[in-house]
Amino acid sequence: MAIQRVGIVGGGQMGGGVAEVTARSGLATVVREVSPEAAERSRSGIERSLGRALDRGKIDEATHQAILDNLTFTTELSDLSDCDLVVEAVIESFDLKAEIFAELDAIVTSPDAILATNTSSIPIIDIAMATDRPDHVVGLHFFNPAPVMALVEVIPSVRTDPSVTEQVTAFATDVLGKTVVAAKDRAGFVVNMLLVPYLLGAMRMFEDGHATAEDIDTGMTLGAGHPMGPLTLSDLIGLDTMLLVGETLQAEYGDPAYAPPALLRRMVAGGHLGRKTGRGFYDYS
Ligand code: 3HC
Repeated sequence: MAIQRVGIVGGGQMGGGVAEVTARSGLATVVREVSPEAAERSRSGIERSLGRALDRGKIDEATHQAILDNLTFTTELSDLSDCDLVVEAVIESFDLKAEIFAELDAIVTSPDAILATNTSSIPIIDIAMATDRPDHVVGLHFFNPAPVMALVEVIPSVRTDPSVTEQVTAFATDVLGKTVVAAKDRAGFVVNMLLVPYLLGAMRMFEDGHATAEDIDTGMTLGAGHPMGPLTLSDLIGLDTMLLVGETLQAEYGDPAYAPPALLRRMVAGGHLGRKTGRGFYDYS
């Protein structure tokens, strides 16, 4: 089965980015959001990103229009019924994801369709078992910003059919142009298992008054050649996501390096979620 029509559940920062990737790859892409307002926000975010690419001469007018034509937005999950691949990219809530996968299981008609989750921390098997087709459920983990970051992690669960893993790997590589790394269904997969303790460590240094946010970030950009410092990157990822991923890793491995610092908890409680709310370790207002 060729993947021609892709559904994205959740058109936020990650889902919108993934939708841009699939639409740019020439695939009919339908984005489902919870309300007309959220769908409109998702559409305008993708249009802004494509507009930048057009202004910078990365794509021409005809390509820009063709990509826009590949995209539709809906509030109805049933509009994803004829998709060959669905990528779920809602918030990191197991209950919400389980509910969505149970609904997708009932809605998506083709038995060959692949149901993928972009979760960064919830076990793929737990999500898969919310459906009657766990053999067709797989983890497909993109990185933020999805249109720019070259990597995708493919994570089969113990129930994923090996042919599904192969198909989704070939799709991410050949159609989306990403590099794939394979990971086991363990919290953090490959990248977050290494990245998250580093980012949480930077927060602890800041919390302890070890150095200013600016100096921690400058240290790692200029001293270690990273494109962004750890506090800037945490703001980009979203501090609510950082908290949830840290908690999941801590629960799975019990290693204190994964324990979210108190400051992170307080910032999330106070609505300082990073770039998306205009305030995190830095002020974006
Ligand atoms: N959407 C689409 N395109 C974007 C974008 C976005 N949100 N942000 C930047 N870009 C594009 C720009 O248009 C530009 O494109 P061009 O080169 O074709 O003109 C290109 O990216 C470079 O952008 P800028 O020149 O504005 O800025 P930088 O050179 O500083 O690059 C960056 C920005 C790519 C975000 C770079 O700083 C970077 O790689 N940062 C690290 C990001 C990272 O580590 N992400 C992984 C987070 S972990 C994760 O997502 C996993 C999750 O589970 C927690």
